Amino acid sequence: MEREKKGEVILGITASIAAYKGLEVVRLLRKEGYDVKVILTPDAKQFVSPLVAGVLSNNEVYSEFFVPQTVPIHVKLTDADLVLVAPASYDFINKVAAGIADNVLLATVATTRAPVVLAPAMEERLWENKVLQENIRKLSEVMGYKIIEPEEGELASGKIGKGRMRNPEEIVRFVKEILDKKSLAGRTIVVTAGPTREYIDAVRFISNPASGKMGYTIAEEVRDRGGHVILVSGPTGLEKPIGVETVQVESTEEMLNAVIENLEKGTALIMCAAPTDFRPVKRYEKKFKKDVKFEPKFEPTPDVLEITRKRYPDKIMVGFALETEFMVWNGVEKLKKKGLDMIVVNNPKTFGRDDIEAIIVDRELEIWDIGRTSKRKLGKIIVDKVENFLFFDEN
Ligand SMILES: Cc1cc2nc3c(=O)[nH]c(=O)nc-3n(C[C@H](O)[C@H](O)[C@H](O)COP(=O)(O)O)c2cc1C
Repeated sequence: MEREKKGEVILGITASIAAYKGLEVVRLLRKEGYDVKVILTPDAKQFVSPLVAGVLSNNEVYSEFFVPQTVPIHVKLTDADLVLVAPASYDFINKVAAGIADNVLLATVATTRAPVVLAPAMEERLWENKVLQENIRKLSEVMGYKIIEPEEGELASGKIGKGRMRNPEEIVRFVKEILDKKSLAGRTIVVTAGPTREYIDAVRFISNPASGKMGYTIAEEVRDRGGHVILVSGPTGLEKPIGVETVQVESTEEMLNAVIENLEKGTALIMCAAPTDFRPVKRYEKKFKKDVKFEPKFEPTPDVLEITRKRYPDKIMVGFALETEFMVWNGVEKLKKKGLDMIVVNNPKTFGRDDIEAIIVDRELEIWDIGRTSKRKLGKIIVDKVENFLFFDEN
């Protein structure tokens, strides 16, 4: 399990006289409990040293694009929760708006799906430059970037005017507000995770290799957005997430009962567990001896999603489907058959890993091929979609 963190912030520092204040931003973000990774533009190294940024952030500092690497840095850094550029120079803002990506910071901003916050710092004439103003508007309207407008004050030139970067305390407060946004406050969401076990005799069972990692990650994501999570978990080797109500179950029938009981209080079910689809017709109380002729017969276990959907026709329901072939086709069939709002189709390669290859199909039959991504990132995508369903169904 990943260490409990408040969130990961990438802080870009550009070549402005205000770059030294960027170091104070690093310090304050860390004080707030965020994991901070600093990217310096190559020119920013004329203003602050990578050594100081590294010590203050307690992380590697990124600056050079073309260094030996297995995964390109801007791709490696895409899991951050927020990208902040403070200070953001005139040159940097215009390059971002033009789609230029010829340094690590520009490429990271272009690649990320996390919220991007820019805190400009420059002389007043640069701030008032029409090209810059047009680009600021474009980045804010088209890309949804948040701009922390500079304030009036004494500038590097000694003149008084608008262009001074906001103070680090204000910038960190702004970032905190975005990251601490509790979009699921007041909601109860039931998440299932892990495999189930169906016992044949006193000690032997059939099951599958599901690790529970995906479901636990989703539970943490819902919790981090302020939601009340009831995690119905089959047997996994994972620690119970802090701040999540966990209900431990073993068999598919127990999982079904726990889901039905707890979804009464909930608005949505994210059924990430991999229940064992078959169980022995009879469970023997004792342990079979090796020499006993032993031919167990199996029957299907109850279908948790199908039964739960019939019981709660109006709640949001997300299912997972593990398929070895015809991923989209099988996913669509399952979505329709069980009346789901969304289905996440994946393959057995995902068992036990931290990454996953997935295709998402929603109730409008829109298909997203997510490709290979971390379970953490997929968790965010799934919870974003659930939030959308909740919003649209209520409005
Ligand atoms: C002493 C000095 C101070 C500067 N301060 C700023 C500034 O506050 N804002 C700005 O936009 N550019 C400033 N510049 C210009 C940038 O450093 C220059 O445009 C640089 O190429 C920007 O690189 P970057 O955007 O890749 O970090 C300054 C340059 C110098 C020499």
